[in-house]
Amino acid sequence: MKKIAVIGAGTMGNGIAHVFAQNGFEVNLIDTQSAALDKAMQTIAKNLDRQVAKSIINEEAKQATLTKIICYTNLKEGVQDRDLVIEAATENSKIKIAIFSEMDQYTNPSCILATNTSSISITQLAEATQKPANVIGMHFMNPVPVMKLVEIINGKATSAEVTDAIVSLTTSIGKIPCVVKDAPGFIANRILMPMINEAILAFEEGISDAATIDQIMKLGMAHPMGPLQLADYIGLDVCKNILEIMEDGFQNSKYKPAALLTKMVEAGKLGIKTGEGFYTYQK
Ligand SMILES: NC(=O)c1ccc[n+]([C@@H]2O[C@H](COP(=O)([O-])OP(=O)(O)OC[C@H]3O[C@@H](n4cnc5c(N)ncnc54)[C@H](O)[C@@H]3O)[C@@H](O)[C@H]2O)c1
Repeated sequence: MKKIAVIGAGTMGNGIAHVFAQNGFEVNLIDTQSAALDKAMQTIAKNLDRQVAKSIINEEAKQATLTKIICYTNLKEGVQDRDLVIEAATENSKIKIAIFSEMDQYTNPSCILATNTSSISITQLAEATQKPANVIGMHFMNPVPVMKLVEIINGKATSAEVTDAIVSLTTSIGKIPCVVKDAPGFIANRILMPMINEAILAFEEGISDAATIDQIMKLGMAHPMGPLQLADYIGLDVCKNILEIMEDGFQNSKYKPAALLTKMVEAGKLGIKTGEGFYTYQK
């Protein structure tokens, strides 16, 4: 596996493209928005500069990484000769099902179709394709170049060969794979999102301010980042989408997004990416 494609050039897509390119893969980065592709390439260059400044890589390695990434707005052109396609588009079932159906149509029969979804059923996405045995979850963590974990999710039809191939691929790019079964939110978000939602509810009820809530979880539970800061980092829209998918998937109102979370998303306060969430950030 040397030729890959990444669909969606947002927060996660640019990080996934960065890591694969840095490990010598030929990466096609695909997004419907050319502005998103431009922004992704700027972000990758900025993150590589940071690695150069810290002497993790040299200038030559930075340039080599950048030349490995080619941008496309046309999905068919971007996926047609690939060994692996990783979908990292917006967390929305309808969007992802449409992408999986297209990916299936334009890729070779042996191509592995992975998704970086945080919560949507892998089995459901696989059903949109003619090769469900090749469909698997590859849930990278944010920021991708830094975080070691990749949650690998087997759908009902995922073949053992595909799981093995993705586990060794994950190890080969310096990440640590953890294999789980398909269930709403998998493991990472099933545990994380109710905690973030509870922190938002406590903030909404005025039990404490954002900085104090975060400080309590950092000092008391040895979390490196408090839940409200982490929510800003992940994106409040992404958090809301994941909670809704878990509420729907488990048919359990305990996952219902806090009213404040919904209000903030509706107001366009999505966290770091819009400059405002529970904290304010310079864009
Ligand atoms: N943000 C996080 O911390 C995080 C962590 C792990 C996993 N994820 C998951 O990664 C995925 C992407 O999340 P993100 O935070 O990068 O989102 P984002 O909003 O930053 O980026 C999504 C990108 O997908 C593009 N897109 C939408 N429809 C498309 C289509 N049909 N074809 C091609 N591109 C399309 C958008 O233009 C946008 O650039 C989601 O499934 C999310 O749940 C996010």
